Amino acid sequence: MDKKMVEAINTQLNFEIESAHVYLAMQNYFAAKSLKGFEHWFQVQFREELEHAQKFMDYLNDRGERVEVRGFENPQNDFESVLQVLEISLNHEKEVTRRINNLMKMAIELNDYATVSLLNWYIDEQVEEEANFSELIDKVKMISNNGLFMLDKELRKRED
Ligand SMILES: [Fe+2]
Repeated sequence: MDKKMVEAINTQLNFEIESAHVYLAMQNYFAAKSLKGFEHWFQVQFREELEHAQKFMDYLNDRGERVEVRGFENPQNDFESVLQVLEISLNHEKEVTRRINNLMKMAIELNDYATVSLLNWYIDEQVEEEANFSELIDKVKMISNNGLFMLDKELRKRED
């Protein structure tokens, strides 16, 4: 494989592990807030990111290239709200998509068809990842508006 491609995949697989840590911190933020469903959902997300990293690692190893595990910055552990967590997550996934697209561009330029084939899976996966978070954001916003509406109705009953 072209050394440039190997380096770019190594960077990406480490970014997938970093993504896992980003979601692990969020999982534990929800655990601290006793939001069991969100805790579970982000635990699944955490595991998924590790699978994304593993898929890249398997690929480099299968092609006789060397995987290089690297370190990264601490993830954000505290947040202002559920909505903020989801918005940070969606932005994170958009950054992942941007990086995957750049990898694809490089693989096409190098006529590396095996890598193009691998990256097709990630391109499809990113559409799903972004859709998942967008949908959750819409749902949380809807619930917030509904909650406010219910509270408003409740407040009308006040007599003194
Ligand atoms: Fe990922």
